[in-house]
Amino acid sequence: MTVDPEQLRLVLYPDPILREPAQPVGEITPEIRQIAARMIEIMREADGIGLAAPQAGLGLRIFVCDVPPPPEPLEPEDGTQAWTDGPIVCINPEFPESGDARTPFEEGCLSLPGIRGDVVRPEIVRMRATDLEGKPFEIHASGLLARCLQHEADHLDGVLIVDKFTQMSRMKNRTRLRKLKGG
Ligand code: NI
Repeated sequence: MTVDPEQLRLVLYPDPILREPAQPVGEITPEIRQIAARMIEIMREADGIGLAAPQAGLGLRIFVCDVPPPPEPLEPEDGTQAWTDGPIVCINPEFPESGDARTPFEEGCLSLPGIRGDVVRPEIVRMRATDLEGKPFEIHASGLLARCLQHEADHLDGVLIVDKFTQMSRMKNRTRLRKLKGG
């Protein structure tokens, strides 16, 4: 793979790359580090809290996220983590454990401008991934971080929020989605 990270740009729906399952990352090369750095840049430029590689036009199982604490941060009492201390890079993420999907919460997506709607997901998840040093790590996430990790991991399987919207949100966004599709 030869990629010029500087050339990476935010990809918008309905670009077909957003629908393709992404490939696992092998060795963490300098190129992968540059790609991750550029992804963080794109996420920040777009004022987002997460970005997956397909959204930068790359079919790789990498995402970045930077989830701010709430205005009055209350450390969760169950030992979970609800925000990040700055941007993190997650490579080849897996979810060995998650609760029942029963909590609706409004989500948007940088690749779907103007579209927002309720998605039902588990409130707490455990995620394992590899960092940029090639070291495995685990996050037991709740709150906005749990949302963000699951949303970004969905991108790696070609899944978008519009696929998971509640029926009400689907109806609410129908016209906007059609406009995006039409370019
Ligand atoms: Ni998204």
